[in-house]
Amino acid sequence: MEKQWWHSAVVYQIYPRSFCDSSGDGNGDLRGINSKLPYLEKLGIDLIWLSPVYLSPMKDNGYDIADYQAIDPRFGSMADMQTLIHTAKQHNIGIMMDLVLNHTSDQHQWFQQAKQSRDNPYRDYYIWRDQPNQIRSIFSGPAWQFDNTTKQYYFHLFADAQPDLNWENPKVATEIQQMISWWVEQGVAGFRLDVIDLIGKQIDQGITENGPRLHPLLQQMHQACFANKPLVTVGETWGATPEIAKLYSNPQRQELSMVFQFEHASIDWHPIHGKWQVQPFDLIELKAVMSKWQTCFDGDGWNALFWNNHDLPRIVSRWGNDGQYRERSAKLLATLLHGMQGTPYIYQGEEIAMTNVRFEDLDDYDDIEIKNSYQEKVLEQQSLSHQQFMQGVYTSARDNARTPMQWDNSVNAGFTHGKPWLALNPNYSDINVANALDRADSVFYHYQQLIALRKSAEYSDTLIYGDFALLLAEHPQVFAYVRQHQQQRLLVMANVSEQEQQVGLNLSVEKVVLNNLQQNDELVSDLEALRLAPYQAIVYALSTS
Ligand code: NOJ
Repeated sequence: MEKQWWHSAVVYQIYPRSFCDSSGDGNGDLRGINSKLPYLEKLGIDLIWLSPVYLSPMKDNGYDIADYQAIDPRFGSMADMQTLIHTAKQHNIGIMMDLVLNHTSDQHQWFQQAKQSRDNPYRDYYIWRDQPNQIRSIFSGPAWQFDNTTKQYYFHLFADAQPDLNWENPKVATEIQQMISWWVEQGVAGFRLDVIDLIGKQIDQGITENGPRLHPLLQQMHQACFANKPLVTVGETWGATPEIAKLYSNPQRQELSMVFQFEHASIDWHPIHGKWQVQPFDLIELKAVMSKWQTCFDGDGWNALFWNNHDLPRIVSRWGNDGQYRERSAKLLATLLHGMQGTPYIYQGEEIAMTNVRFEDLDDYDDIEIKNSYQEKVLEQQSLSHQQFMQGVYTSARDNARTPMQWDNSVNAGFTHGKPWLALNPNYSDINVANALDRADSVFYHYQQLIALRKSAEYSDTLIYGDFALLLAEHPQVFAYVRQHQQQRLLVMANVSEQEQQVGLNLSVEKVVLNNLQQNDELVSDLEALRLAPYQAIVYALSTS
């Protein structure tokens, strides 16, 4: 496989509204991010995935863009953005912009024009029909909104304030490509492409995901914007299978660098109620899914590794233990992920094991997805009770990941001097960055070590390019795998449970590389006899003979 710089990169996702507020208006901003670059450099990351900071009415927190080439005043100015790009480079960090290309805000001037009349030059930038079809919005309800002025329906796969762009219109592709190239000139390191699997849709045939026009459009975009440039491009691709992932990320095909797919992230969702009613977590299933994605590429594709992002609940609350074993289980989850092949992503706060939040009142939440789903499932269909829905919110809602970053134990966790746009998780007095930086055995330093291992002369080839083999596939509590590159073999062993586990592996250890418990290496070096403590995770180098 031809090596690429982003194979060995580690990405940190920032959700700007919740990261750090320098102005005191209660919203995080670009200067706030700038002030935290030394912290991110210390962690060791290479890239920031910056969730949208463009001009936006914030119906979906910036995923509704009103101008792709302007910064929302909440976040600062274009000069602040340029400073961030420039200063981040001095800290060896590149900025990956978030491109939302499936839809714009209804406040975008293209849409403002388009809805003026049926013969407006921008009319065909969006999708209009005299009659709606059966397609539903991902944010509940029909995917069609009637426009009273022009007496037609427009199509929106997300909120009605997020009309879908019409990628059948070549002018849309041209405008978007010019905009992307402009950002490339600003010195960004790459792009994350929001729900990119939706742009090739054929709505009259009921096709939204993975439509026939998708890959030709991406090849065209690559040619126009990315070719022969050292950029990284990441496609958010919910429904990708390994075969589909290769279409996007096989280097020969010149589309994207990697996919960001969610098969593992939705394994416990209910067949009807989805995330609002999760089913018991099954480690055997998780291992099977992860292992499939670890072994499906042979230089013909590349995957992102993640547990968290701004759309998912906090992993330590989800598949770890956010009580007694919070720190230990967070380290275990980090170890499992960073030992795999792919480009790892850390979502803000994950490196200090921030947890889900439980607000009493639905009104304390902000997310449009929560509000729309409540309207549909509880008020209209009555398919979930209020209590059942709140339980779903506590386990799965996106706002679990969006409460402000917990920097220290001062008022509002040092996030803002003003009134935060979304309340903080009250546990910030214990769980915060200052506290983590003060303790050598904190989750922060564990992430730092994992990143350093991936970059170490000794182990980087194995961690980045080594083959993957799952061990103990049917064990319900232990996740174990071996990575092998040439003569080197690394074993990752993790006990994903509150009970001690003994599995007895007939493998011989050369060295303990990393252990999430402070223990004498000799105590854990006999794999036949090893007793893994609750949520213990160890990385070993195995003997070559
Ligand atoms: C995916 C984004 O990650 C999510 O936050 C957003 O709501 C939708 N796309 C719509 O842009």
